[in-house]
Amino acid sequence: MKRVKSISQMKEISENWRKEGKKIAFVPTMGFLHEGHLSLVRLGKKLGDKLVVSIFVNPLQFGPAEDFREYPRDLERDAALLEKEGVDVLFCPEAEEMYPPGFQTYVEVAELTKGLCGAYRPGHFKGVTTVVLKLFNIVKPHLAIFGEKDYQQLQVIKRMVKDLNLDVEIVGHPTVREKDGLAMSSRNTYLSEEERESALSLFKALNFAQNLVKEGERDVAVLKKKLKEFIESHPFTKVQYIEFVDPSELTPVEKVEKETLCALAVFVGKARLIDNMLIKP
Ligand code: PAF
Repeated sequence: MKRVKSISQMKEISENWRKEGKKIAFVPTMGFLHEGHLSLVRLGKKLGDKLVVSIFVNPLQFGPAEDFREYPRDLERDAALLEKEGVDVLFCPEAEEMYPPGFQTYVEVAELTKGLCGAYRPGHFKGVTTVVLKLFNIVKPHLAIFGEKDYQQLQVIKRMVKDLNLDVEIVGHPTVREKDGLAMSSRNTYLSEEERESALSLFKALNFAQNLVKEGERDVAVLKKKLKEFIESHPFTKVQYIEFVDPSELTPVEKVEKETLCALAVFVGKARLIDNMLIKP
């Protein structure tokens, strides 16, 4: 596996692969890799002739009060894991090269970023779309893979690709869970043993929602109230939002009459965790 820091070197490698007719698969990450990331990597290995994984903790997508400084990092461990998976290039640029002095151009998906996480993390998705477009321009992939745990992010990126006519296929990968249902996340490392127990309430709440709907409850206000009470009956939890939205437009629904996305953001101790599930009536 080649480790590349420089933007021009990464561009050159990809240009050469494209000349040779190779299909480039790309998995963008912020590192501190877990099985969830590695599943994306394995899918990338299957779908492309060449596979690039990026590790870049993107300062642009963290708010001033968020965890940019504390975000877990371990490049050597990540590189060893990726080497084992047969990744061709690990691209790990420096923030100084990605955002040199004078940087002032941003990409924003207007509507899809208004609700859910976008309502509580102003500027977050603008940071995500800007860095993802930059990474696409540098890595020049034919396809890029994103996890469905960040459901809104996946929809926002698909929209950007469509609206800006980018020649990249966006592939979603189902959320990877621990045996007990906890969605894998680099932020799970913030959890103490007791907090981790309470963190299971997110996945349990999503299943609870599915059962309530199956039993006939359609009213979103009632569902939200029951889910909030359920989650907050677990110690260390504080619900940030519980939303039921149209799965493609991400607009709120009042009644669950068709397939609906239930999305949650919950603080468990200092860790802000998200999860989601498509609920079928
Ligand atoms: O999902 C992530 O890890 C990040 O938001 C991404 C897509 C790598 C952009 O920084």
